[in-house]
Amino acid sequence: MSRPKQQRGAVIAALSLWVGLSAAGCDGASAYADRSGEEIYTRLCAHCHGDSGRALQGRGGTYLGKRKYWTRESLLEYLDDPQAYKRKAPHLSKSKYMPPINRNVPEAARLRVADHVLGLMDTLEAARR
Ligand code: HEC
Repeated sequence: MSRPKQQRGAVIAALSLWVGLSAAGCDGASAYADRSGEEIYTRLCAHCHGDSGRALQGRGGTYLGKRKYWTRESLLEYLDDPQAYKRKAPHLSKSKYMPPINRNVPEAARLRVADHVLGLMDTLEAARR
């Protein structure tokens, strides 16, 4: 007599797995997990900082001349909470606002974004010489 009950259990388990997976699909984390640092940068940062980080049209600051202020670790900290980090970074403007990175971007993907930004800074630096 326990068979039908077990089967119902299996159906419910399968259904909740399906609901869980589709929820994860809409949630956004998976939208970033598989993307490169450049793709995420294009999506979340380029409208303010520009594709090459010079912020010619955007509202963000330029990365030119900023390489010396940043490491992978400090960038990760900054992206998580720019307002808090600003207190330790005198070169940043007191009045300008930089939004925190989208909460759905997982840690590993944030690292790829940080590396992409450092790469842009290196390129700008090299072009200046
Ligand atoms: C709404 C516009 C906006 C968006 C979106 C934005 N930023 Fe910014 N960003 C700014 C502004 C404005 C500043 C200057 C803040 C300051 O001086 O305190 C800034 C500063 C920075 C700096 C510091 C540069 C320096 O002067 O040393 C870095 C690095 C940076 N942003 C990276 C990013 C990354 C990476 C993203 C995407 C995840 C991003 N930003 C998204 C507006 C933006």
